[in-house]
Amino acid sequence: MSEARPLASLYDVIERRRDVRAEFTGEPLPDDQLLRILGAAHQAPSVGHSQPWDFILVRDPATRRRFQQHVATERDVFADSLTGERAETFGKIKIEGILESSLGVVVSYDPDRGGPAVLGRHAIADAGLYSTCLAIQNLWLAATAEGLGVGWVSFYREEFLQQLLDIPTTIRPIAWLCVGTVSGLQDTPDLERHRWRSRRPLAEAIHEGSYRAPLR
Ligand SMILES: Cc1cc2nc3c(=O)[nH]c(=O)nc-3n(C[C@H](O)[C@H](O)[C@H](O)COP(=O)(O)O)c2cc1C
Repeated sequence: MSEARPLASLYDVIERRRDVRAEFTGEPLPDDQLLRILGAAHQAPSVGHSQPWDFILVRDPATRRRFQQHVATERDVFADSLTGERAETFGKIKIEGILESSLGVVVSYDPDRGGPAVLGRHAIADAGLYSTCLAIQNLWLAATAEGLGVGWVSFYREEFLQQLLDIPTTIRPIAWLCVGTVSGLQDTPDLERHRWRSRRPLAEAIHEGSYRAPLR
């Protein structure tokens, strides 16, 4: 595990970024630091310059507890679908730090933002969703550069989160991000350390000229 510290180079930040579950220390974040990482998210590219994201800051412990209970139920739903070694391995994996983090940042996606004619989205409806994910990645990298941790939680039903945070039904909650101060960042992804799944070599992901052709 490496110490939490400010990082200079973008490649360092990309390499050091981790999905954090167990390392949160829970101190409140200074407003200027929180605004810097939200500012980085808000500078993401977006289809038709639609900026379809919003950020809901969730600090209230009671709201976080309600979400955490829902996530625990969904964890059980997934666990029940597993058997044998997969069930045993998953049993050891922590999947969220909702209560231990400094706050939750829920990132939502509004498909109507910038409409009705969103430049660049007429053929690919998901392009707005992609844009929202880029905002999340910007936030994640900026937080890493600040020496903070982020953990993406997706073990939830969208309707539950819409009701919990009074999000209109036309707007999709894309992520609950646990954000906060950390004791450090792990060098290896948790899912690798727990032998859930290991990294794919880069060469396997690169194709030359067509999908079926491997890298020469
Ligand atoms: C869309 C998305 C959803 C995720 N959902 C969860 C989640 O619910 N719980 C969790 O512990 N990690 C979640 N993760 C984190 C991944 O497990 C993690 O990114 C992956 O194992 C690689 O580890 P690293 O991010 O530390 O490199 C999610 C990541 C993404 C991109």
